[in-house]
Amino acid sequence: MYRELDKKIAIVTGASQGIGSAIADVLVREGATVIVVARNAEAARAKAEALGGDCTFFAADIAKTDQTRELVDFVLNRFGRIDILVNNAGVSRQVDFLDITEEQFDQVVDINLRGTVFLAQKVMAHMIEQNYGRVVNIASMAGERGGLFAGIHYATSKAGVINATKCMAYRGGAHNVTVNAVAPGLIQTAMAEDLKFSTDGIAMGRLGTAEEIGEVVAFLASDRARYITGSTVDVNGGLLMR
Ligand SMILES: NC(=O)c1ccc[n+]([C@@H]2O[C@H](COP(=O)([O-])OP(=O)(O)OC[C@H]3O[C@@H](n4cnc5c(N)ncnc54)[C@H](O)[C@@H]3O)[C@@H](O)[C@H]2O)c1
Repeated sequence: MYRELDKKIAIVTGASQGIGSAIADVLVREGATVIVVARNAEAARAKAEALGGDCTFFAADIAKTDQTRELVDFVLNRFGRIDILVNNAGVSRQVDFLDITEEQFDQVVDINLRGTVFLAQKVMAHMIEQNYGRVVNIASMAGERGGLFAGIHYATSKAGVINATKCMAYRGGAHNVTVNAVAPGLIQTAMAEDLKFSTDGIAMGRLGTAEEIGEVVAFLASDRARYITGSTVDVNGGLLMR
């Protein structure tokens, strides 16, 4: 334990389960106070209570910009600052390209890409003003190589997240606001169960754990990563090497 994030205020979306929950655990272990964001208020409350300290929760659908605006106002009123934003919430669906409907496409892009962009816009306006911030966007290997398990809407939304990360990094750089993406490979969560991942082709011969994503997010949020921005860090056990 290094306590590298002592007194930092961190928003983590989709933090009531899976990778987001593990990211919250690692950030709190490193000293941060986490605001757990999820659509289900009860699940978010339970996670915030389990995290302890001053951690709290806010129920919001990240695809709804009025709700994410309220989230940012809530955090600023309560804590006076936001140091770290982890855009983790996301959905994945397995649909054949020839079958996908416009509604299905829009729903996934609205959550994974639009939600990420407009929450970051609101938070970064504040971070730029305070001349400090760390934004970490959870992308996916599918955004780099195309969807192996997931549909075109998922893969292209994550490719969009990788590019949006660079655009945000250009805007924040001169203000000490770094923006990076993490591209997980196949990680053991509910999403993995749904998509029925296999370990074929993974150099390390196993799926990753949610905690292994949390450790990389904590590093990118720490002072040790202060000169890294606009990058995408692959955490895939050697499934995709580039
Ligand atoms: N599991 C994997 O192998 C894997 C691989 C690559 C990328 N990812 C990415 O990691 C992130 C977390 O995935 P996970 O595996 O933990 O999945 P998960 O389904 O276990 O968790 C996703 C979380 O996001 C929340 N969420 C979904 N839509 C939301 C919305 N509109 N508003 C607020 N919250 C919402 C869900 O409620 C859930 O808590 C996602 O962005 C996913 O695309 C996962």
